Amino acid sequence: MNKSSLISALALVLLGPVTAARAQDGGQVNVICSVQAEWCNMIQTVFARSTGIKINMSLKGSGEALAQLIAERANPKTDIWFGGTGDPHLQAAEQGLSLDYKSASLPQLQVWAQQQASQSGYKTVGIYSGPLGFGYNTELIAKKKMPIPKSWADLLNPIYKGEIQVSNPASSGTAYTMVATLVQLMGEDKAFDYMKALHKNISQYTRSGTGPIKAVARGETTVSISFVHDGPGEAMQGFPVATITPSEGTGAEIGSMSIIKGSRNLANAKRFYEWALTPAAQEMGAAAKQFQVPSNKAAKVDSRVPDFKKINFIKYDYAKYGASSERKRLIAKWEKDVNSLPR
Ligand code: G6P
Repeated sequence: MNKSSLISALALVLLGPVTAARAQDGGQVNVICSVQAEWCNMIQTVFARSTGIKINMSLKGSGEALAQLIAERANPKTDIWFGGTGDPHLQAAEQGLSLDYKSASLPQLQVWAQQQASQSGYKTVGIYSGPLGFGYNTELIAKKKMPIPKSWADLLNPIYKGEIQVSNPASSGTAYTMVATLVQLMGEDKAFDYMKALHKNISQYTRSGTGPIKAVARGETTVSISFVHDGPGEAMQGFPVATITPSEGTGAEIGSMSIIKGSRNLANAKRFYEWALTPAAQEMGAAAKQFQVPSNKAAKVDSRVPDFKKINFIKYDYAKYGASSERKRLIAKWEKDVNSLPR
């Protein structure tokens, strides 16, 4: 049995018997899903079985999702965008791509999730949060006699030349979170000098944010810059991967959800939105081995979710770095000043 049929079977056991007709009688909803495939697949199965609404699901990284929504602005084909980092959701809100909607469940959410909603004029909402850090392959690092990187500064050590992967900020919200974090931590000039120096040690900028930690897990690279909540899922599959957050300070994402303006299945989009804010739906992240902090205060927090109290966080300015002009400017500058450099 492959992984998605296993998840579907598990969902059926959890939900009990339902008739085939029930899964089809509620119409449909078109969802862009920007978390990892296992969680998207579980949502697709469970939501359809419990509401009768079929989900047409398309998996896209945060930056790619935003690009698609911009491209289909005149004729939207998407009803709801679930997950992915919050900055491009804020940009979508600012550009009028998402619909304002105030859920009655908002008071049940963590303050950061409510702030994400209020600062966007209720055009997006926080559904989870997670810290940026590093992943490393415990076996490779020992075999190659490399130190475990503990700080941003450590990543510049020439010993890591060709050993580090991170994603590309144009397609991936993870990498944009890194760019914005470094700019806030060091100031813009120093952050770009830092990224130029780091470039020498990078083997590849991947399209998807989770590519690098998967490469670490499989021994294809030694170190990654990743959301640390993506580490335990790889370790649970038996891979030798551990994570750490940088000592100088780091940023966190506010994974978000937005209803698309012009949605053709608006009633179903709202139904999905409400469902996705429930504790039961949010607990599915951990069931699919993804360990972000859920935004609903009543959702159980798995013991593998990173302990925020032990992490040195910067005060990330979500409004500033989610603004269209700032995100576009920083990504263009990264392309020109960093990505184009030889290694
Ligand atoms: C993974 C993480 C999510 C994050 C997403 C961003 O799925 O588990 O927490 O929001 O990556 O993906 P991206 O490809 O845009 O970096």
